[in-house]
Amino acid sequence: MADIIDGKTIAEDVIARVKQEAATLAGSGVKPGLAVVIVGEDPASQVYVASKSRRAKECGFHSVQHSLPADTPEDALVALIGELNADPAIHGILVQLPLPGHIDAGRIIQTIAPGKDVDGFHFINVGKLGTGETASAFVPCTPAGAMLMLERVRGRDLSGLNAVVVGRSNIVGKPMANLLLAANATVTIAHSRTKDLPALARTADILVAAVGRPEMIRGDWVKPGATVIDVGINRVAAPEKGEGKTRLVGDVAYAEASANAGAITPVPGGVGPMTIAMLMANTLTSAFRAAG
Ligand code: GUN
Repeated sequence: MADIIDGKTIAEDVIARVKQEAATLAGSGVKPGLAVVIVGEDPASQVYVASKSRRAKECGFHSVQHSLPADTPEDALVALIGELNADPAIHGILVQLPLPGHIDAGRIIQTIAPGKDVDGFHFINVGKLGTGETASAFVPCTPAGAMLMLERVRGRDLSGLNAVVVGRSNIVGKPMANLLLAANATVTIAHSRTKDLPALARTADILVAAVGRPEMIRGDWVKPGATVIDVGINRVAAPEKGEGKTRLVGDVAYAEASANAGAITPVPGGVGPMTIAMLMANTLTSAFRAAG
């Protein structure tokens, strides 16, 4: 059976370090500040945003949350971001996605000052990651967290290892592939148009699933001994728990895959907790940069 890579524990380690360093920084007069902006009432987003704000407070940060109604005009959101860009007490700005349909999310992301873009979604940060300027980039939180989990099992240097990333999103798949490449892995990005995905997946020493399809990756797609990183968080019906009940599953069929994998991240309790921890780490980094 595979070793379980426990995201909760690793995330708590990261948070503990962030707390400690935030306290040091506060001693020299700079309190890290995180602004989280949410537009509309999406219930899952509300839960995520509440835990981001709560974690920021726990870390000793200045934490502000802006909850705007679903019909907020795009220009009003742009104006708010302008204010946050100019506010010296704010080091990180996060606009929760998805945004309501009438707002151009691409435009909104590009209005965030790259130096406060703790999500790492601005073209400047994407470009820095893509060109290996990782020292001054903000790296998107979910892939950054996934890399930290991988490091616990495989170390920092992935030379000679084949990595297959299933999913090509801007938030996870593409930055994950860049991080794996920077760590010297041989990287393939697979997606819905890939031919014979199971065969390709079986070549992977490191298999990353980020497609958002419940339990799509089956046990026999996993090479014996592979490290499996499951980024998916899918809510599915769980009639066995009672009528109307649900449970969370990943993009990987966990029970099957753990029979083959050398190590695997669970869902929940895997990559999920790492995302928020890395957001805190990015905000701290931004505050350190501002403090000079
Ligand atoms: N929605 C889902 N994941 C994320 C994320 O990492 N950042 C933001 N801003 N929104 C999200």
